[in-house]
Amino acid sequence: MSEIATERLAADEPGITRAAEILRQGGLVAFPTETVYGLGGDACNDRAVARIYEAKGRPSFNPLIVHLADLDAVKALVEWTDLADAAAAAFWPGPLTMVLPLRAGAPVSKLVTAGLGSLAVRMPANPAARALLRGFGGPVAAPSANHSGRISPTRAAHVLDTLDGRIEAVLDGGACEVGLESTILGLAGKPTLLRPGRITTEALSEALGRPVLARRDREAISAPGQLASHYAPRARVRLNASEWHAGEARLGFGKTEGDCDLNLSPTGDLVEAAANLFEYLHRLDASGAEAIAVMPIPHVGLGVAINDRLNRAAAPRE
Ligand code: TXA
Ligand code: MG
Repeated sequence: MSEIATERLAADEPGITRAAEILRQGGLVAFPTETVYGLGGDACNDRAVARIYEAKGRPSFNPLIVHLADLDAVKALVEWTDLADAAAAAFWPGPLTMVLPLRAGAPVSKLVTAGLGSLAVRMPANPAARALLRGFGGPVAAPSANHSGRISPTRAAHVLDTLDGRIEAVLDGGACEVGLESTILGLAGKPTLLRPGRITTEALSEALGRPVLARRDREAISAPGQLASHYAPRARVRLNASEWHAGEARLGFGKTEGDCDLNLSPTGDLVEAAANLFEYLHRLDASGAEAIAVMPIPHVGLGVAINDRLNRAAAPRE
């Protein structure tokens, strides 16, 4: 990946205007929240979301949290419930994330949910974050703004330690107050604590008027891509296809010998391939084919995460 000149922006009006403009252009902006700095990109832009994974050097597509400035915008993306309403009234804006069923037709990139049927939503309290979200006017996907495997950043300087030259800008809003990622409350089923944080299980139970379950399976949440409910195509998936078999849907990459049904990236661009991955698997699955054959994808850069996802899709089913 070539170096980008990362802009240092102050959290004032011109800085926030510039940051919102970068997001609208599909660029990446690290911004402060009250928990940790987030690496933000337009959640409706497949390519911007693919670039978040690339900049972080993540070896897999974990679902991302979407950040919004107001409740109406949240309700447009997820199936809102009375319990969600109670939690929002008590803790939003603030360091709470809720996982709710994704609304049919919500314009969020499939790369944000990693193909899941639920979406993590959060309304941060940090004034610079709120100003940026209002200025941009749409959902912003943002994992913590650190290179994969490094600790979460609580200052703009920490962000630059691992992401300088890999993102368009960092909005410097000083030190984060909480310094620990948001509490995640699962509301797609029974209320369940998916990640502990500043807002405790007890406080959540009280606000909801019913007990919040501790999550049972640690593994499932540290790597939600492994959840049984995680999207896998109905069709069998055959990897590293060097020729096509009759009756298969054909997913190409780069130059192809003969026809394919869809090509992740005719030019062999891994960011483009990642951006198209979930959408194209979905479309080929919907075509009704018994199997999907996928051409080899190189195991470099974003190709590692793409192969991780494809391997899971191809793994034997119960
Ligand atoms: O405090 C925070 O939440 C920070 C700031 C930037 O807002 N963001 C953050 O994002 O910690 P990230 O990507 O590092 O963590 C997202 C977590 C992951 O553990 C992921 O598994 C979980 O949220 N998650 C996201 N969508 C989910 C879903 N649909 N179901 C279950 N877990 C989900
Ligand atoms: Mg993180």
